[in-house]
Amino acid sequence: MDKKNKLMGEINRLKKKRKAVILVHNYQTPEIQDIADYLGDSLGLSRIASQTRAKVIIFCGVHFMAETASILCPDKKVLMPDINAGCPMADMITKEGLRTLKREHPHATVVGYVNTSADVKTELDICCTSTNAIKIINSLKNSKEIIFVPDKYLADYASRKTGRKLIAWDGYCPTHVKILPEHILKQKRLHPGAKIIVHPECTPPVIDLADEALSTEGMCKYAKLTDAYEIIVGTEIGLLYRLRKENPKKKFYPASEEATCPNMKMNTLEKVLWSLEDMKYEIKVPEDIRVKAIKAVDRMCRIG
Ligand code: 13P
Ligand code: SF4
Repeated sequence: MDKKNKLMGEINRLKKKRKAVILVHNYQTPEIQDIADYLGDSLGLSRIASQTRAKVIIFCGVHFMAETASILCPDKKVLMPDINAGCPMADMITKEGLRTLKREHPHATVVGYVNTSADVKTELDICCTSTNAIKIINSLKNSKEIIFVPDKYLADYASRKTGRKLIAWDGYCPTHVKILPEHILKQKRLHPGAKIIVHPECTPPVIDLADEALSTEGMCKYAKLTDAYEIIVGTEIGLLYRLRKENPKKKFYPASEEATCPNMKMNTLEKVLWSLEDMKYEIKVPEDIRVKAIKAVDRMCRIG
C-alpha cells in the first residue's frame, strides 16, 4: 500500500472513532479534496457544519471558516489541522477599524463578507458571501447608507449589480488580484470558443471580461450545466481539480497559474491525521463574542 492510501485509511478509521466529519473548501489540494466528506464554498460548508450530527468537525479551509463553524455549532468541537491557515483579506480589517468607520456613518447598515474574523462579525448588521452578496444588498431597501467590508472588489461588483452606492473598506484578496485582464485575454486567444467564469473577488476589469462572476460553488454548478466544452477559470487554481474530476469530458484552463492561496495549501494528510489523533487545533469562539457574531450570520441565513 502506498503512503497516501495508508494515510487515508488511518484517517478514515480515526474519523469513525472520533465521530468526526471532514469539511473541505474547494481551494484545498487534491489529496485533501479526496478525503472530504463535504467539499464546498464558505456558505455551503457553514450550512453543513450547522446540520451535521458529527461531534467533531475537521475544517480544512482557513481560520474565518472554522470560526464561522464554531459560531454556528457551539456544541461541536471544531478543529483546524494547521492553525496558521489564515485569510489575509480577513486580516485587513479589525473591529476597532470598523468601529471608526461606523462612527463616520452612524446611520449606515453594515454588511460584512463572511471572510472576516468573529470579532469583526460582532460589529456587522448582516453577513454575506460571494453567492448571496447581491441578494443581501437588494434586501436593504430601507437603508439610506450601506458600509461594505472588507473586500472592495466584491463591493464594487455588488454595487454595479444592484445600483446601490456602497461605502467600501479598502481590502482585497491578494490571490485574486494576481489575475490580470491580459491573462484572460491570452487564454481567450488560445481558446476562442471557451466561456469565461471568474470569482467576484477579481478586479473590475477582469470581471468585465467574464461571461459570469460566480462563487466557487456557483462555478461548479455552471460547469455542469453549461453546453460549453471549454471554460477559462478566473479563481484560485485549487478549484480546477474538482472541476476536472466532476466534468471529465470538459476542458478547464486557469486564467493564471499565479492565482494560488498559500494559506489554502497548508494542510497535508499527515496534519489531518495528527489533528484527529491529538484533537487539535481547536477553534472555539468565546461565548460573549459568539452570541453577538451569530446575529449577522443568522440574518444572512434567513435571507439567502
Ligand atoms: P467562496 O465562498 O466562493 O468559496 O470563496 C471563499 C474565498 O475565500 C474566496 O477566495
Ligand atoms: Fe482569503 Fe483570498 Fe485565500 Fe480566499 S483566496 S482564503 S479570500 S486570501
